[in-house]
Amino acid sequence: MTKYSYFGAVMIYRHLFQPLLFRIDAEQIHDRILKRLAEQPWLLSPLQPWANYSSPLLAQRHWGLAFRNPIGLAAGFDKFGVALAAWNKLGFGFAEIGTITGSAQPGNEKPRLFRLPADGALINRFGFNNDGAEITAKRMSSRSSDIPIGVNIGKTKTVDLQRAVEDYVFSFQTLWNVADYFVINVSSPNTPNLRQLQEKSSLLELLNQLSGLNRKLSTTTGAAARPVLVKIAPDLSRAQLDDLLEVVGATGVSGIVATNTTITRENLHAPEALAAETGGLSGKPIARRSTEVIRYIKQQMGGKVVVIGVGGVFTADDAYDKIKAGASLIQVYTGFVYQGPLICRQLNRGLDRLLRRDGLRSITEAIGVEASA
Ligand SMILES: Cc1cc2nc3c(=O)[nH]c(=O)nc-3n(C[C@H](O)[C@H](O)[C@H](O)COP(=O)(O)O)c2cc1C
Repeated sequence: MTKYSYFGAVMIYRHLFQPLLFRIDAEQIHDRILKRLAEQPWLLSPLQPWANYSSPLLAQRHWGLAFRNPIGLAAGFDKFGVALAAWNKLGFGFAEIGTITGSAQPGNEKPRLFRLPADGALINRFGFNNDGAEITAKRMSSRSSDIPIGVNIGKTKTVDLQRAVEDYVFSFQTLWNVADYFVINVSSPNTPNLRQLQEKSSLLELLNQLSGLNRKLSTTTGAAARPVLVKIAPDLSRAQLDDLLEVVGATGVSGIVATNTTITRENLHAPEALAAETGGLSGKPIARRSTEVIRYIKQQMGGKVVVIGVGGVFTADDAYDKIKAGASLIQVYTGFVYQGPLICRQLNRGLDRLLRRDGLRSITEAIGVEASA
């Protein structure tokens, strides 16, 4: 494939397909595309050389897992774990399924997903619509993937906060066999009170219980304990973030996913009524804040945890900013929606070039170089 044909394909998506797709209701088109990817992943085969980009500079190992490139699919895109085979074909280095809760639940009423094209953003208030841990575990065990698959777990809406730990424990145990790593989601704005679990004592209890169970499952099965990461909101104050990092340090958590969507609304260009929709805002407006959080984590924790940086990554420069601030891996959701199915190649090729420009021999040499800035 020539540079020109690749560039042409990106332009065709942006100027032809994306406007057509954006004329259809956001959730409806998402569901239709996901269904296609789940049922006919082979349809992606012709796209594979256009979507994939490999370079030895981009490969990393974390927690015994091989990441062929640092670009992952963020949680929320494949909430049902239906399209595992597709993510590899689209060039992702890893993918995160979920959020999955202990019990199946329908999520909030529709409409619950809104596009803000003038801001390169989305607002969603899905509220963890998913099939529940048991059905998802069964489905995932019958599918395979060539890339690491994370499972993101959250709290069932009808379970009250006092019993939240039990709900997470149930999901963790049920999904243990199908997860290469776990993300404990305590940061979605769309489940009432969920974010209170980011507070010190609640988080300490939750993570201690999960790490005990992790050890037990590892001993009884003979398989390695699963890496456990915590996903945090971009809206935490410095003091809240300090508390959280203390718990993370004390419980031996393997990593932090920074960040989830924001409930704030600043400097948006979208019409007021649209910008005022309840839910989490993602995409370009959160890029800077998410990078600040990553930088702060790196400054405070050094190399003790692996950071997955997520929030408003549309270009290789966006991804590189997060890597230099301290992220080892990157995830995309909103950028994938706006930039289209060739985004992985675009990001990976761009990162490869940026690393070479800076005279680096591996992505690991770039991680956190600007953490103190
Ligand atoms: C429509 C939508 C649904 C999401 N659902 C989840 C979810 O179920 N669990 C989760 O941890 N994050 C969820 N997220 C948050 C993303 O994983 C990501 O953290 C956030 O959108 C910032 O990245 P982005 O700017 O690349 O979208 C969702 C985001 C969007 C846009």
